[in-house]
Amino acid sequence: MKPQTSQNGVVAVCILKGGMGKSTIAINLAHRLQENYGETVYVDVDKNGHGTEFLGFGNAYSKNGHLEEVIFRDTHPSELVIETECGFSVVPSSTEMSTINDRMKNQMNADVILKNEVVDPLRADGYEYVVLDTPGDPSKVADNALVAAQSFIVPVIPGQGSISGLERIMESQLLPIIEATDGAADILAITPNMLSESIRPNKPDRRLLEDLNRNWADYLPPYARITDEQWEQIDANGRGDIPLPGIRERDALSDSFSNNEPVAQYDASCDQIKHFDTLAEIVAERA
Ligand SMILES: Nc1ncnc2c1ncn2[C@@H]1O[C@H](COP(=O)(O)OP(=O)(O)OP(=O)(O)O)[C@@H](O)[C@H]1O
Ligand SMILES: [Mg+2]
Repeated sequence: MKPQTSQNGVVAVCILKGGMGKSTIAINLAHRLQENYGETVYVDVDKNGHGTEFLGFGNAYSKNGHLEEVIFRDTHPSELVIETECGFSVVPSSTEMSTINDRMKNQMNADVILKNEVVDPLRADGYEYVVLDTPGDPSKVADNALVAAQSFIVPVIPGQGSISGLERIMESQLLPIIEATDGAADILAITPNMLSESIRPNKPDRRLLEDLNRNWADYLPPYARITDEQWEQIDANGRGDIPLPGIRERDALSDSFSNNEPVAQYDASCDQIKHFDTLAEIVAERA
């Protein structure tokens, strides 16, 4: 018998490649979860701390000692939590992340440290949703994030190397975790990101969307699905009433970080907010 899926509200935004939009999606997802569903904390476990910087907490990133105390001593992670003006809470990344990664390797249960020391205590404190922003290269911390989450959102952008980054994380990490947990872990979405307006044949956007729809259709959110018949219609008669797929490239999505804000707070008219709402709905239903 299949074990019951235990909903734990913890989701990792992950792919083994940089610059795919992990931080952008994690932050905006956290904001939409907080607005629409319940208390949410964004936890940046990427040693580069870009998400932490996007939200304006570069100072916290440079502070020493705190994260190590939480991970390897008895300090409660609530000590790290920053309340923000955007509603959701933040656990910032830290320059100590590399040291922590090395220390983790020598511990017993090296893959469940983040779950035991950070994620579970935050859930016990009343956060309904925990969104983990994960590193773009393999590491002990990355393994810990995936084990803690068991629900995954994977962003991919058009262009060379994206699909191979997607295949790498699927084959080396996500599919094995799903198998090992007998399906309790799950990929909630593979989402295209930074799409341009053009879906003409042989362009990078088209290649990405065709690949995703051909090979990973089960994991695509509705806003990214295009059927074979729709491609035929698009090529013969133009797009007509078929909506452009998301998530598209928008200045508001990068400019919002100059204000340390999620996009819905920075520019409520941005037409891509609805896709973050869709992702939040998927998380609320299934994570
Ligand atoms: N849909 C989008 N529209 C416009 N800009 C975007 C979009 N998605 C991401 N960006 C920008 O692209 C850059 C990379 O995105 P982001 O930092 O979210 O990716 P990442 O996968 O977290 O990268 P890293 O590996 O550096 O942590 C950032 O400058 C971000 O503002
Ligand atoms: Mg990032």
